Amino acid sequence: MRIVALYGTESGHAEELARGIENAVPQRAVEVINMADAEPGVFVPGTLFLISCATHGGGELPGFAQFLHDDLRDLSPDLIGVRYAMFGLGDTSYEERYLRGARQFDELLAGLGATRVGPFGEHDVMSRQDHVELGVAWARAVLAEIGT
Ligand SMILES: Cc1cc2nc3c(=O)[nH]c(=O)nc-3n(C[C@H](O)[C@H](O)[C@H](O)COP(=O)(O)O)c2cc1C
Repeated sequence: MRIVALYGTESGHAEELARGIENAVPQRAVEVINMADAEPGVFVPGTLFLISCATHGGGELPGFAQFLHDDLRDLSPDLIGVRYAMFGLGDTSYEERYLRGARQFDELLAGLGATRVGPFGEHDVMSRQDHVELGVAWARAVLAEIGT
């Protein structure tokens, strides 16, 4: 199964996580793709997407993630056969807007027929935990859950 670490970032944390995942599972070739370089056609069946996505602007997706989200929403492709796992990066001081961007992306993918696997991962800046460490543990748990 093809594995893609797809990330949506504004200030780099989600990219660091995607690269961390790439390095953490050397036994598997993980492709790292920036949402800024992706189009809706990136979501092909038979692929597992390990998605790390930040929230910015007080509850919004990072700019390029928003473009991808809106293009997907407008095109509404059938994503049956696509599997994904979601990891949100955010800050609980934004309260009800915490992780809103990642949740929005998650809802869209599920609504288009993609299957979410594993737990919804999260990193809160306020926790002072390391986002790469936490995210790599999440990715390992997702891969273990689906027997990869
Ligand atoms: C201007 C600004 C607005 C933010 N707004 C939110 C928000 O609404 N909700 C949230 O959960 N996190 C918010 N955050 C926190 C970021 O999502 C968090 O710092 C994350 O780790 C950034 O990831 P990135 O470096 O991949 O962009 C905001 C951060 C900044 C700087």
